[in-house]
Amino acid sequence: MTGKHEIMQEWNEAADAWADFVRTGKDYNRTGVNNPATFKLIGEIRGKRVLDLACGEGFNTRILARKGGEVTGVDFSEKLITYAKQEEAQEKLGIHYEAMDATNLNGLAGNQFDLVTCFMALQDIEDYEKAVAEVARVLKNCGHFIFSIPHPCFEKIPIGEKRAPAAENYFKTLEYHIDWNMKRLTKQFTTTSIHRTLTAYFHSLYLNKLLVRRLVEPRPDTESVKQHPYFKESLIRPQSIIIESLKMK
Ligand SMILES: C[S@@+](CC[C@H](N)C(=O)[O-])C[C@H]1O[C@@H](n2cnc3c(N)ncnc32)[C@H](O)[C@@H]1O
Repeated sequence: MTGKHEIMQEWNEAADAWADFVRTGKDYNRTGVNNPATFKLIGEIRGKRVLDLACGEGFNTRILARKGGEVTGVDFSEKLITYAKQEEAQEKLGIHYEAMDATNLNGLAGNQFDLVTCFMALQDIEDYEKAVAEVARVLKNCGHFIFSIPHPCFEKIPIGEKRAPAAENYFKTLEYHIDWNMKRLTKQFTTTSIHRTLTAYFHSLYLNKLLVRRLVEPRPDTESVKQHPYFKESLIRPQSIIIESLKMK
């Protein structure tokens, strides 16, 4: 298994190319599919205290702040947090960023957030159970946890030269490496993710008294499909899944 520090190192090395990818609108799944659906689910957050867990360089963190949230963003990649802070210096949105491991949020007091978001990152967090326990700790009662992950039934994992559906061996927890080698990237990089069953994610919510409220399997809108034939597959099967849960007493 790739350890946490190696995964952190991968994201530090990826940081400049990742920031360019996200900020220049080349992360098509984000702009065309995931964000419209996730922000619809998030709804009104004006005046709400929000934690964006594993926030990366902060693209979605800034959207949360522009929507009126009082936002904290944490990620274990110092480099990505530096990029996020640079952006905050350019456009002051009042976001507090800190380099922090999602599985140890000791720097954050409990029972303080109305909403915790985690956009497309829980699959990269080695000890997702600890991270979910930390989410439950920092949420207020009735606070919401909204996260998106690649859809475990349809995510594709590299096997040799090919990419095969992880669901060919669905029940197997499987670490895999993604070679980000698309032409639209300024540089190639590799990151590590873990395929887990939906049951595994739901069980960690259950153990932490996070009651599942809604789930969304997002589809691209017709405009996105017209712009990028790339999205056609997402019309047939969801590439991601978004889950909203609620902290119970
Ligand atoms: C695919 S990126 C998504 C970033 C961001 N949520 C976004 O939407 O742009 C996954 C992120 O998870 C972060 N990450 C992985 N494991 C982590 C951990 N244990 N603690 C904090 N961040 C972690 C990585 O540094 C990376 O920024």
